[in-house]
Amino acid sequence: MDRKIGIGILGLGVVGSGIIHIIKENKEMLYKKIGSNLSIERVLVQDIEKDRNVTLPKKLLTTNPDDVLKNPDIDIVIEVIGGTDDAYIFIEEALNNRKHVVTANKDLIALYGSELHDLAEQQGCDLFYEASVGGGIPVLRGLTDGLVSDEIQEVMGIINGTTNYILTKMDEEGVPFEEALQDAQKLGFAEADPTADIKGLDAARKMAILARLAFHMNVALDDIETRGITNISLTDLEYGKQLGLTMKLIGMAKTHNDTVEVSVQPTFIANVHPLSAVKNEYNAVYVKGKAVGETMFYGPGAGSLPTATAIMADVIHVAKNIQLGITGKSGPIIERSARLSPPHLRTSSFYIRLHVHDRVGSFAHISQLFQDMDMSFKRIVQTPMKKQQTAEIILVTHQTSLESFTNAMNKLQQMDVVKSIESYYQIEGETV
Ligand code: HSE
Repeated sequence: MDRKIGIGILGLGVVGSGIIHIIKENKEMLYKKIGSNLSIERVLVQDIEKDRNVTLPKKLLTTNPDDVLKNPDIDIVIEVIGGTDDAYIFIEEALNNRKHVVTANKDLIALYGSELHDLAEQQGCDLFYEASVGGGIPVLRGLTDGLVSDEIQEVMGIINGTTNYILTKMDEEGVPFEEALQDAQKLGFAEADPTADIKGLDAARKMAILARLAFHMNVALDDIETRGITNISLTDLEYGKQLGLTMKLIGMAKTHNDTVEVSVQPTFIANVHPLSAVKNEYNAVYVKGKAVGETMFYGPGAGSLPTATAIMADVIHVAKNIQLGITGKSGPIIERSARLSPPHLRTSSFYIRLHVHDRVGSFAHISQLFQDMDMSFKRIVQTPMKKQQTAEIILVTHQTSLESFTNAMNKLQQMDVVKSIESYYQIEGETV
């Protein structure tokens, strides 16, 4: 074992410990696969004395970032501290010192991926971030390597484990949102401050990364329509069951000619669609390509060893590139910034729940409105309510454009017979 690739790690939390575990546990196998010995040179921590469930000689730990970033024995810097402040400074510094970088940091890559790729390329360095989306699922490499020859048409993902756990619990046990969230926090899926998860921001950052790699366009976070799961009611989940639909927080990116739509929103998934079966904290990304057709990548979206596995895949990729002398070409080909699809090109079917005055002709009025707008229904459910003289109506439309749907919603809101629009959701997959 004479050849050596020096590794520096920034952070020794849950994921950092997982990386050390894998490097130690699989040392021989990794050597056979890479042809070099991966050597952990230094690890940046906040507190050297802290008790950790990983055994590492104390002399490898340091509180000085320069011991990693300027260390001549280190070839690859792994960043697992998270956040966008120190992490950005450290990654920039590592690249300026011609270190290759592997990171799990979705926030940083969603915001600054493009400029960090430019810097990496200038410095002849690799920059990889498989673990930033879908934890242990090799979906980024699936897009950039496995499906490299294909034209990707659609990427649709359940890419936030916390919200998928909450929605599964609500759907299967009839538990309200707040209680399901508390349960997710107790089990350690949700952060102490779960805002980024439940408001869809975490998923939006991951969609920016997926859309960039799938469509070769830079998608700004502000261009991603983002709606979280905080307002989902058990009533809609119950109607969903009757209609063969399951509610999921879906990240969606689709192309229409040379434009793209990217969104994160609670969406009803038809039970015939493979994403509807992805439960609890699991993640999955469905990718449709022109040549390959439908594919799906499924697995754990977080956790120490799954995330460390994705990081190690990147480390091994860099190690091989070093040996072949082909580093610095890791950046995705970005053709331009995304041009967003106009609403008339975006089509879907929709679920709408309305409260209407329960009197003769109410339904006929609504039906007339949709007929005038050339929108047709696939399903209609009407239920009288305990509230006096109110009926609840569920409409499931056929495929229609977002433009027509928005117009219909505006008109519905102005109708005398309509008391309130309680909720509306996009539907993906063929409804029965
Ligand atoms: N908060 C994220 C989730 C962690 O719940 O999926 C992984 O990015």
